[in-house]
Amino acid sequence: MNNAKKFWIETFGCQMNVHDSEKVSGTLMAHGYAPVATMEEADLILFNTCSIRDKAAQKVFGRLSQFKALQEQGKKFGVLGCVAQQEGEAIFKRAPHVSLVVGSASYTRLPDLIAQLDAGEKRVTGLGEASDEAFETDFTRRDNPHRAYLTIIEGCDKHCAYCVVPFTRGKERSRTSASVLEEARRIAESGCTEIQLLGQNVNSYRDPSPAGWSFAELLARVAEVPGLRRVRYTTSHPRDFHPEIVQVMGENPVLCDHVHLPVQSGSTDVLRMMRRDYTREKYLERIATIRACPRPLAVTTDLIVGFPGESDADFERTIDLINEVHYTGAFSFKYSPRPNTESLTWGDSIPEEVKAQRLAILQQRQQDIQWHDNQRYIGRTLEVMIEGYNPRHEQWVARCSTNRIVNFTSSGLRLAGSTQRNGLPVFSQPMQVGEYVHVRITKAGGNSFVGEHVAAPGPGTPLAGPALPGVIV
Ligand code: SAH
Ligand code: SF4
Ligand code: F3S
Repeated sequence: MNNAKKFWIETFGCQMNVHDSEKVSGTLMAHGYAPVATMEEADLILFNTCSIRDKAAQKVFGRLSQFKALQEQGKKFGVLGCVAQQEGEAIFKRAPHVSLVVGSASYTRLPDLIAQLDAGEKRVTGLGEASDEAFETDFTRRDNPHRAYLTIIEGCDKHCAYCVVPFTRGKERSRTSASVLEEARRIAESGCTEIQLLGQNVNSYRDPSPAGWSFAELLARVAEVPGLRRVRYTTSHPRDFHPEIVQVMGENPVLCDHVHLPVQSGSTDVLRMMRRDYTREKYLERIATIRACPRPLAVTTDLIVGFPGESDADFERTIDLINEVHYTGAFSFKYSPRPNTESLTWGDSIPEEVKAQRLAILQQRQQDIQWHDNQRYIGRTLEVMIEGYNPRHEQWVARCSTNRIVNFTSSGLRLAGSTQRNGLPVFSQPMQVGEYVHVRITKAGGNSFVGEHVAAPGPGTPLAGPALPGVIV
């Protein structure tokens, strides 16, 4: 393996990209490349890029120019992902030291494209858009032994007016339920206890095999895979968020207490312009279904401010919506005009300072809501999965079922030494990364909790602390 070519990959963007990088790494390793810890050691340097907003897309050109000099040492540069698909061969003009440009719909061809590069070709591209296949590989290199991503659907057919994804990731294509379940079983057999199902719109999943399962059916079956303790999924589109999904979540607590349901705007007029295919009222109906689940579920969202034509009154509707829904978290963005999209032709009518002001108001309000809602957790006991240890604060870092971070101390159980495995610290017994423990919450911030380790509540023991009103977690 000493003579193996070495690669280094840097990833931008969403979980889909993070997981694609795991698949690309596995594919490269199966074709004689070895991963290295720094760019300087690598022969092949890859950037897996994001094009969702202009800032994200520009980042990669900044990174590329920063390391241009490395080309003189014989290193090859490749651009993968959404900027690759978006910009195509124009990347060679802007960054002539790049020799490989591949969009995600062409990753099934990667071994072939890499062979061309190894054979000495100066510029290799994989930019076909019309792939019918999902990018599947037997070689996926998962970095986290406790939590695994699993793609169930690729691409997007929704064509929201502002969004590049349908152009960068091609049309929607679901994997067969058999292949999803087989991979879920394999992941569980490796000792991993948490799976996150991925797709730009996971709930638009439709099993292409004769079984023809819906997303809800698939979710129910994945949650039954022996060994799995947590199953999450992201992202859900409100249009296809049918009540059956909430029903199966209510029936099996392995399905985590969290739904990410991007609303984008609280104004039906803006939603119509965005081509989101639902009204404010329809969205709130979905929320009501989620709130009716026998187990309280946390809801998070994505929001865009400053969409072309968004009036003060429209923006007020968004503020009003976050006041009503009480999200446990929200990602909010200023509208960014993107190539090829429908709204590009409508101009960018909201001035930058108005966008900035609206974003600040929105984020402040949302933080206040989160902080206030989270206080009610003080005194409650939550089950968490340990993700690491922060020696500076002498705290364990963990995550609860709703996906919030819980930092906790453990009197009596001190860290006895640590080593590194797959980039994650591994601790000596009795507690280690990947383990599930119970934590009593003592302090709550807007985005995370602080607590202390307690013995697990016995069967039937009610959770400690005041009961929550139930509708909001
Ligand atoms: N498929 C997911 C979203 C993927 S993109 C969905 O439909 O919900 C993640 C988020 O980026 C979006 O939810 C949206 O809030 C934001 N986004 C997408 N395009 C954007 C643009 N042109 N400007 C600003 N934010 C954008
Ligand atoms: Fe983009 Fe809309 Fe598709 Fe989400 S559903 S990826 S926002 S086009
Ligand atoms: Fe970005 Fe592509 Fe994901 S544009 S958000 S990396 S699908």
